[in-house]
Amino acid sequence: MIRQIAVIGSGTMGRGIAYLGALAGYDTVLYDVDPAALDAAKSSIESIFRKGVEKGKVTETDATLALARLHLASDLEPAARGAELIIEAVPENFELKNDLFAQVDLYCDEETILASNTSSISISKLAATVERRDRFIGMHFFNPPHVMKLIEIVTGERTSDATVNAVREVAEKMGKTPIIVRDSPGFATSRLGVAIGLEAIRMYGEGVASAEDIDRAMELGYNHPMGPLRLTDLVGLDVRLGIAEYLASALGPRFEPPQVLREMVAAGKLGRKTGEGFYRWPAE
Ligand code: CAA
Repeated sequence: MIRQIAVIGSGTMGRGIAYLGALAGYDTVLYDVDPAALDAAKSSIESIFRKGVEKGKVTETDATLALARLHLASDLEPAARGAELIIEAVPENFELKNDLFAQVDLYCDEETILASNTSSISISKLAATVERRDRFIGMHFFNPPHVMKLIEIVTGERTSDATVNAVREVAEKMGKTPIIVRDSPGFATSRLGVAIGLEAIRMYGEGVASAEDIDRAMELGYNHPMGPLRLTDLVGLDVRLGIAEYLASALGPRFEPPQVLREMVAAGKLGRKTGEGFYRWPAE
């Protein structure tokens, strides 16, 4: 039975996942190596709760109780110890994730489930670092985590049914709809999302239409809430490039990143986080 969750990494996804864990009733520990990042995460989580209360999505009492269940940690060992589920949400770098899981595997109980929020790295390959391969799984959340309804549960070669069921229950308690996807390059969501995103970037590079009009094509013609270029700005052009390079190596040249994407990343135009991508993003 899962009572305590540790979330590793307090970036956009980690803080959103910690918010969901605490609100769903789990004792939630948010770990980051950088204490300043933890402070920023705490303020951002408080602000999500405030807005949730204002919008009538969360009651004042639930928000207060959830915040009391949320703890911050800048040491990995105490954060991992005692958690029945550990969700890793550090940057999309295999070595970084690998090192973390190797450490966490030593610190936590034998029964603890290890989950990665990776959007593309092979779950079986990550699981190979640890002893508990049957208790290793992908839990892929979407940005913004407190709004998006999906959790993509990714099963590795050795993931047990008991692990899938335990994680599915957590996803549902967080108010999400889980889909179960076999470990394969890009899973279901990144493969589909990147395919549309790369084609939109190619069209932008070829001057088929402006960024605004390419986005409107999907927003108004297909009812996507946000066009693929604006979404790439939010996700980060560097993140999209990394996933596309990986998918091209795994699935072939149809995922080859367009030259314009490489050039924009090289120029530091990474999207909202740097103030410019396909759009300009003035500081909030
Ligand atoms: N707490 C609870 N609910 C909240 C909330 C809060 N603090 N803030 C907002 N909400 C709710 C709102 O009430 C609203 O709910 P209803 O529809 O029931 O009214 C909903 O969340 C949307 O909120 P807003 O109306 O404020 O936002 P919006 O309409 O401007 O939409 C958006 C914002 C949801 C981000 C929308 O633009 C969107 O869907 N964009 C696309 C996002 C997307 O595709 N994300 C996936 C990225 S890919 C990824 O993450 C995977 C990866 O691996 C890279």
